Amino acid sequence: MADSCIAGFAEELDDLAKEYESMKELHKKYKEKLEEVQSMQKKCATLVGHQKKRYKEIGDGIKEKSQGLSGEEKAKCNELKKLVEDRKKNCSEVLDTLPRSNNFFLSTTLGPVSVSILSKKDRFAYKEEYEQFKLYLSIIMLVGATINTFFIKNRICDACYHFLLVWYYCTLVIRESILRHNGSRIKGWWVVHHYLTVLLTSILLIWPDSVSYRMFRNQFMLFSLYLSVVQLMQYYYQSGCLYRLRALGEKSDMYITVEGFQNWMWRGLTFLLPFLFVAYTWQFYNAYSLYQISKHPECNEWMVPIASLIFFCLFLGNLITTSGVILNKLKAKQSTTSSPKNKGS
Ligand code: COA
Repeated sequence: MADSCIAGFAEELDDLAKEYESMKELHKKYKEKLEEVQSMQKKCATLVGHQKKRYKEIGDGIKEKSQGLSGEEKAKCNELKKLVEDRKKNCSEVLDTLPRSNNFFLSTTLGPVSVSILSKKDRFAYKEEYEQFKLYLSIIMLVGATINTFFIKNRICDACYHFLLVWYYCTLVIRESILRHNGSRIKGWWVVHHYLTVLLTSILLIWPDSVSYRMFRNQFMLFSLYLSVVQLMQYYYQSGCLYRLRALGEKSDMYITVEGFQNWMWRGLTFLLPFLFVAYTWQFYNAYSLYQISKHPECNEWMVPIASLIFFCLFLGNLITTSGVILNKLKAKQSTTSSPKNKGS
């Protein structure tokens, strides 16, 4: 009985032998190609580096020599300048598809592992996953803040909620650094904002259950609840932008026109901005309330003035950055509508 079983296994192994050999052959080819790709990446990086350096030198030279020129010579210089700019842009596009070394934060946090995402499609997919992560966490935070505001008033539950916030903002800092490494235009302030929020939520986590804590607790939970709702609106706006930008990037016939994208963006912003400015006012109010609490005779905790200062920094940074973003968008809108190319489109 045992003998026939073993013979059966041997037969099965014999059957698999051919497939095993072809798998080994394929894997060998795969390793060779991988080595080839890596050596091509290195060669490309060296060539692009050299090209970029030379275009910078040539561009500077043309700029210097074109001063004081006029007529045909000036026109020739402008033509050359345009050529240099086009080539530089193409070099940047090539660089986008090559692995880059991590910046200081990423290399100290993740080590020397490469986080370069080499295809546009994968970059969109990573950004989409990041937006979805924020959506799910905003929903969880909304539920947590609702429970803590209206149903359970317990320091341990509060601590669990604060811990969730610390973890969430830490992951955002890492994810956003990866996004920025891969060409996302996320403003530096939003990353700083998340560092400050990690600090703030850590302070809330270790703040003892004292008079000062209880004076601020309900206000903070209500603020968190409101912020979670605003984050859901932000998700709707950001994922809408992402969807439309992807369509613009992928479709050659551009069925969504740039103008169509702009219209959608402005509608989204007009809806979102009042809610954002209410959140900033509330941040200012939190800073003010904490400052008042810090002067209370029974307040001995160092956390109170520090939290007040952080809320104030968040308020100021958010207000300045968001206003700057809107002003830049308005300027860009004006310049596109006044450019002759777009008139009548
Ligand atoms: N967090 C993370 N990424 C952000 C961001 C934010 N707060 N604001 C913008 N970005 C990203 C965009 O997704 C875009 O990424 P991409 O280059 O990968 O496509 C990039 O930064 C450039 O975006 P930009 O054109 O400057 O702005 P926008 O139109 O995408 O968004 C606002 C404009 C005002 C809606 C947005 O900046 C925002 O939501 N700001 C408020 C955030 C805030 O205040 N949070 C705290 C609440 S108290």
